[in-house]
Amino acid sequence: NLDEYQISPEHGFLPAELPLSRLSDPYYQPWEVISENLQTLLSNKQIRVAVDALPLLSTGRLRSEAEWRRAYMLLGFISNSYIWGLENAADRVPKNISIPFLQISEHLELPPVVTYAGLCLWNYRPMDAFTPVDVLENLESLITFTGTVDEAWFYLVSVAIEARGAPTIPLIIKAIAAARENDIVTVTECLSAFAERIADLRDLLGRMYEHCTPQAFYFRIRPFLAGSKNMAGAGLPHGVILEDGSGKEEYRQYSGGSNAQSSLIQFFDIALGVEHRPTGMKKDPESDKLQGTAPPPRHNFIEEMRSYMPGPHRRFLEHLITVANVRSYVEANTNENALAHAYDECLRALSSFRDKHLQIVSRYIVIMSQESRRRAARAAAEAGSTTVPVVQVPESNLGLARDSAAVEAKKSGLTGTGGTQLMPFLKQSRDETMEPATGVW
Ligand code: HEM
Ligand code: ALA
Repeated sequence: NLDEYQISPEHGFLPAELPLSRLSDPYYQPWEVISENLQTLLSNKQIRVAVDALPLLSTGRLRSEAEWRRAYMLLGFISNSYIWGLENAADRVPKNISIPFLQISEHLELPPVVTYAGLCLWNYRPMDAFTPVDVLENLESLITFTGTVDEAWFYLVSVAIEARGAPTIPLIIKAIAAARENDIVTVTECLSAFAERIADLRDLLGRMYEHCTPQAFYFRIRPFLAGSKNMAGAGLPHGVILEDGSGKEEYRQYSGGSNAQSSLIQFFDIALGVEHRPTGMKKDPESDKLQGTAPPPRHNFIEEMRSYMPGPHRRFLEHLITVANVRSYVEANTNENALAHAYDECLRALSSFRDKHLQIVSRYIVIMSQESRRRAARAAAEAGSTTVPVVQVPESNLGLARDSAAVEAKKSGLTGTGGTQLMPFLKQSRDETMEPATGVW
């Protein structure tokens, strides 16, 4: 029963009913007003003054789940604006927002930080209610940090992917039931349809370029998506303190917003039996031991990101793991060419989605970080400083091959907002996608 996991057969992990654009109870207007004026408060540097002056509101008047979600979004956007909105990061969030934020996060079983759920899943509005949600042109974001089309587009591409991907959920459930009954024709049909859908999603992902420029993403949007884990370089060596009024608060560290928190993509992996290992761990961990190298890393980022998903979605994935049988069914029937072919097509489509994603990450992060160092070097030179070394960066890296981008990312120690060593992590994830392929047909 998908309902109990807060999944809709039509909209998947997006809410069954459209997200609320506002909390209608006037009691909560102070939060709504800050969110409405976020861009002004950020540009005139009054955000902390305004948040410090907020009353401490109770969560007792939140009624529906939709209201709890809206409140979670408001406080996520407000607290990240508070932390990252001025030159120096704030390592303490005042209790007027952190007390309700902690309660709301607990209710939704999410961490008290911006997550994919708040940035994307619950943050959209179709301009025309009769047009389907996977039509990107018809969508608007409800809240953004910057007020730019680029930022809205960055979130909305994900919304459209979730919407168009939604029908794969009933499809896979059907495939699992058919595999149990050894109905090979139905399993094959489901997998063929699944492969086509994933290919569709890759094309949607490629539309990122249309309205979100790498410059806007890297220099304006991304700083606000940051979390509080491994953020020493950005001015949060210990993390953040969320004041809870006890006076005994400790520093906390959370990953920032990342699409790795999308349940849909993890759903694909689990449905197909794709397994991800900690970054750097070989396919056969024994071989590491035999060679006497350092013990393999334990930290599995993709799995960890499940705790950044709404509770019911996380439980759905955990349940799916216990019933997923498609991969073993295919492995038991490799003499069935059509079945093996359809299964491999699914893996190929998912791997190609990740390939497209790698290309985006290289353009939106790796190349932009080089641009950023170039800007810093130029500024230092103009200021006549001799102490800052001028970084040598090739003039144009637009033709950068994927692998050299990975080397570059590793050298410069680039990390994603989720905290991964982005290129090695993403490349491994892509390569793992093809591991179960039968290759028999
Ligand atoms: C992971 C960047 C858009 C799906 C990541 C990571 C980075 C990244 C750096 C590594 C994890 C971390 O440390 O945060 C970007 C950039 C994007 C973008 C720069 C656009 C400008 C998207 C979209 C989707 C997506 C639209 C689709 C829903 C994923 C997934 C992962 C991931 C599923 C986890 C890794 C995996 O499953 O292979 N992304 N991302 N990303 N991203 Fe994106
Ligand atoms: N996870 C994406 C990044 O690292 C948003 O920029």
